[in-house]
Amino acid sequence: MITVVANLKGGSGKSTVVFNLALWLQSCAQPVVTYDLDPQCTLADVGAVRREEGYTPPLQVYQQDTALPDQLAYHPGEVLVDVGAANMAGMRDALSVADRVIIPVPPSQPDVWATQRFLGIVEEALAGKDRRPQIQAFVNRADTHRAVRESDETEEALGMLEGIDVLPQRLCQRTLYRRSLSEGLAVFELSPRSKAAEEFHDFANALYPDYRPGRRKRNPA
Ligand SMILES: Nc1ncnc2c1ncn2[C@@H]1O[C@H](COP(=O)(O)OP(=O)(O)OP(=O)(O)O)[C@@H](O)[C@H]1O
Ligand SMILES: [Mg+2]
Repeated sequence: MITVVANLKGGSGKSTVVFNLALWLQSCAQPVVTYDLDPQCTLADVGAVRREEGYTPPLQVYQQDTALPDQLAYHPGEVLVDVGAANMAGMRDALSVADRVIIPVPPSQPDVWATQRFLGIVEEALAGKDRRPQIQAFVNRADTHRAVRESDETEEALGMLEGIDVLPQRLCQRTLYRRSLSEGLAVFELSPRSKAAEEFHDFANALYPDYRPGRRKRNPA
């Protein structure tokens, strides 16, 4: 299954989501490859840190400019693609063969507008295709305080956009995401009992209800 994690805005959490999701799928014993189509190469860099630190399993990251639809479709297991506005050609290629598109959206109005524009790009990429991917948006970097309304408002606004599903599972703004990314570990590896880990499991379970993480040797954290 080809899952493209994309949107137009920078810093919304695409690379963070691909990295954590790929490791979560591996913890469920699923074969996974990832594609980093972003010239910034964040995913390739974090994959390199993980390998240098000797954490297992390593993450397979193909780092390239073009998405090469045939190449994406070639892998038998789960394929995760990280792509943003810096590579619009690669984004269109990846969208054209996607089974699913996941859109992380930070809680702000400009991010909702950018998501709306992004949906236009998805439609262009799908023009003439007889198969549509499932498109799922969710709020990333949600405020942890219930009193702050931006996340609810963003979710409501996303719910009004046509052709997408909005996941009720949010990922909150938590420092553990930054720390774990810089160390080459998933949040649930670095701090398995944290709120971030719990939220991430709920999120990943909602996306892949048929998979369950198995028990495995812990990486040194
Ligand atoms: N839920 C979160 N809580 C806290 N920090 C987060 C969260 N999600 C992402 N971040 C942090 O925000 C920064 C940007 O995230 P990330 O690099 O994943 O975004 P991106 O969409 O891939 O950005 P770009 O468009 O630049 O490629 C990183 O430092 C990351 O660790
Ligand atoms: Mg990125």
